Amino acid sequence: MRAVAVSAFGERPQLMELPQPEPGPGEVLVRLSAAGLNPVDWKLADGMFGDAVPVSFPLVLGSDGAGEVLAIGPGVRRFTVGDAVFGQFQRPQHGGGSYCELALADEDRIAHAARSVTYATSAALPTAGMTAYNLVEETRISEGKRVLIVGATGGVGTFATQLAAGRGAEVIATSRPGMAELMRNLGAAETVDHSAGAVADQVLAAHPDGVDVLIDMAGGREEFAELTRTVRDGGTAVSLIGSADADELTESNLRGFNFVNRPSPQLLEILAGQVDAGRLTVLVGREVALEEAPEALDASRTGRAQGKTVLDI
Ligand SMILES: NC(=O)c1ccc[n+]([C@@H]2O[C@H](COP(=O)([O-])OP(=O)(O)OC[C@H]3O[C@@H](n4cnc5c(N)ncnc54)[C@H](OP(=O)(O)O)[C@@H]3O)[C@@H](O)[C@H]2O)c1
Repeated sequence: MRAVAVSAFGERPQLMELPQPEPGPGEVLVRLSAAGLNPVDWKLADGMFGDAVPVSFPLVLGSDGAGEVLAIGPGVRRFTVGDAVFGQFQRPQHGGGSYCELALADEDRIAHAARSVTYATSAALPTAGMTAYNLVEETRISEGKRVLIVGATGGVGTFATQLAAGRGAEVIATSRPGMAELMRNLGAAETVDHSAGAVADQVLAAHPDGVDVLIDMAGGREEFAELTRTVRDGGTAVSLIGSADADELTESNLRGFNFVNRPSPQLLEILAGQVDAGRLTVLVGREVALEEAPEALDASRTGRAQGKTVLDI
């Protein structure tokens, strides 16, 4: 089967012919129609997680995917051959990923796909959607809270904007001018152009009393600390990329943490249900062929994604 993989950390990903995997106990074999790209895909292939994530090579890239169940292993109860499924296929310890034609998933990492959308749309949902959902839960976003989302035009941000606005929060989303109208259509009350000057200054000029919650996906330690100026006393500040210093935040009378995602099949089901109910829009920014994955990953590295990138398999 065709797969985009690396044979060592830091190598340029390439199209390879790899053997078809067979499902073991608790595993599901899926013929993937689409894979969703996330920044973690190239971070893992670059070896950025070191020994924390055991890996075997060749390592197929990618986590997210959607397609049809081809076979099930012993003990699998939630799925049967022919089911339309989506979820996370990354199994780095076995070299498995989603940038391929046939992928194995542990039964509890996938769910039945939303019925109203294509596989390409479903493949864009798992990691970014579950991250956004958990973020909104863990920061206790609710009616009337003012929330600043930095990195709002990317995969996680477009979902987080919708989910926070859906709970009645007043969302301030960072956005270049070209994406501003789209972000307002997704539920943002207002946008801040992060390419036009310091975000913290712009937000505080418009809202001197600050925001209740900061969700930052883009800033290193210094940028994150600078952004926390916008958070009012007793508010919450979260970094998705490990830039929060809990001690410093406590000293400033803020609740803060570095977010770590907790995926679950129930969460996938909730997200698919919201898509089918028309309450969650999946913004696929770009669809490319599987063999174009290396160039799509290069584009992701620049940090300039607009919505999600999907690979057609
Ligand atoms: N901790 C976790 O469990 C977890 C889970 C999921 C994702 N993440 C991480 O969260 C980050 C975002 O993920 P993603 O999937 O949403 O990425 P993405 O789809 O690649 O989106 C990145 C977005 O960030 C925006 N951006 C970049 N620099 C910015 C800045 N200085 N100010 C404001 N916006 C900026 C970009 O917009 P412009 O091009 O307009 O600048 C782009 O829309 C990644 O680093 C990812 O690895 C962490």
